[in-house]
Amino acid sequence: MKYYIKTFGCQMNFNDSERIKGILQTLGYEEVQNWKEADIILINTCTIREKPDQKVFSHLGEYKKVKEENPKAIIGVCGCLAQRMGFELVQKAQVVDIMFSSFNIHQLPELIQQAQAGYKAIAILENPPEDEEKLWNYPTVRENPYCAYVTVTKGCDKNCTYCVVPKTRGRQRSRSMESIIREVKRLVEDGVKEIHLLGQNVTAWGQDIGRHFSELLYEVAQIEGVKRIRFTTGHPKDLDEKIVKAISQIDKVCQHIHLPVQAGSNRILKLMDRGYTKEDYLEKIRMLKEYVKGITFSTDVIVGFPTETEEDFEETLDVLKKVRFEQVFSFKYSPRPDTPAYSMEGQVPDDIKTERMTRLLELQKTILADIAKSYEGTVQEVLIESFEDGNKLIGRTRTNRWASMNGSEELLGKIVKVKVIKSYPFSMECDLLVESQGGN
Ligand code: SAH
Ligand code: SF4
Ligand code: F3S
Repeated sequence: MKYYIKTFGCQMNFNDSERIKGILQTLGYEEVQNWKEADIILINTCTIREKPDQKVFSHLGEYKKVKEENPKAIIGVCGCLAQRMGFELVQKAQVVDIMFSSFNIHQLPELIQQAQAGYKAIAILENPPEDEEKLWNYPTVRENPYCAYVTVTKGCDKNCTYCVVPKTRGRQRSRSMESIIREVKRLVEDGVKEIHLLGQNVTAWGQDIGRHFSELLYEVAQIEGVKRIRFTTGHPKDLDEKIVKAISQIDKVCQHIHLPVQAGSNRILKLMDRGYTKEDYLEKIRMLKEYVKGITFSTDVIVGFPTETEEDFEETLDVLKKVRFEQVFSFKYSPRPDTPAYSMEGQVPDDIKTERMTRLLELQKTILADIAKSYEGTVQEVLIESFEDGNKLIGRTRTNRWASMNGSEELLGKIVKVKVIKSYPFSMECDLLVESQGGN
């Protein structure tokens, strides 16, 4: 029996797919890269903006052809769109046999049985079920042998007025320290070197179970075999001095943080209900720069939130100029049904959003060109993740930049020192510094 899975959305959705693969593999299914060969086709959906929603329906239109040759084939939809639309989705796409969301991935084995018995197996729950931690009993199937995602919180307790996530993923639930540590130990035994802790709002881990995210960083760092730690996404409001100190004290925590700012105008930040001002945000960046030598930043920005004026937008550009992010993920505001911003007056026309977006990308391009240049001639530490073309090694620096160099396959999974020879916006050509080989 074979399965095919298509994943949209954020890293948490990718990690969910890795777990779904683990469940399917446990049931004896084997992954295929061509949906036409599959007995089960799953789409793990995202509904953060309008565009991903549309893609799901066009994929379903294509995948339904699988039933012409294999009438017993099962088509499933899971993830955030499934949670948001519920039965409306099945009405719109009758080809769907199985539907569930991130709340009840662990129920997949029963859902498959129901579908095989000829029923529509639709399990969209209003709230996460009590037994959802059963999910952690299943393994994950990963493509990268050296870097692994570990989900540590599910859901989100913030209420940003543009965002569907609290509706699609529910209230924040922190996974217990024991369960996380158990998984990290298993991953390390499996050869993983870099642990990437995940949550919609990962810096808020622990708030609902009387613990603090900094404790989690210290505990994971204690595990022998963990060489590097990253985490995504940090919400500026929850990133306090205790966390910043932990980042600076724990050598294994990489010097890079993704800290979405969303907007630079205080008026817009308030309308978004982000819980901080531009000044608060810049203060967090200052604190991070002070404590953590060489730290780099990336961010998310929304362009054209309702009522955004030219002056408001320029405040966003000002944040980009002040912080000098290594990466900016920018999105045109997309109205999402059942969110407060959806019905706000003063929706910004699309041509203005496009024009602002173009200017933002132009500015970021010049900032990034400067940053890239500043890497040339420096020495960086790289964890080697892949080996290509007989002599090319590829990995990431602690500051989260891709680096490639000539070298041999035995360095896979090792941390090496390199000198940067040529640096481009999103990659760097490097020379291996011989004396650093081995030893880890
Ligand atoms: N939890 C993270 C973000 C998760 S969603 C945080 O709080 O920062 C990922 C990104 O999608 C957001 O940072 C935001 O920039 C973007 N996004 C969310 N809703 C959006 C919407 N309605 N329109 C456009 N972009 C949106
Ligand atoms: Fe959405 Fe805000 Fe929660 Fe991020 S913090 S997931 S933007 S509600
Ligand atoms: Fe999308 Fe759901 Fe992630 S809406 S961004 S897949 S939490």
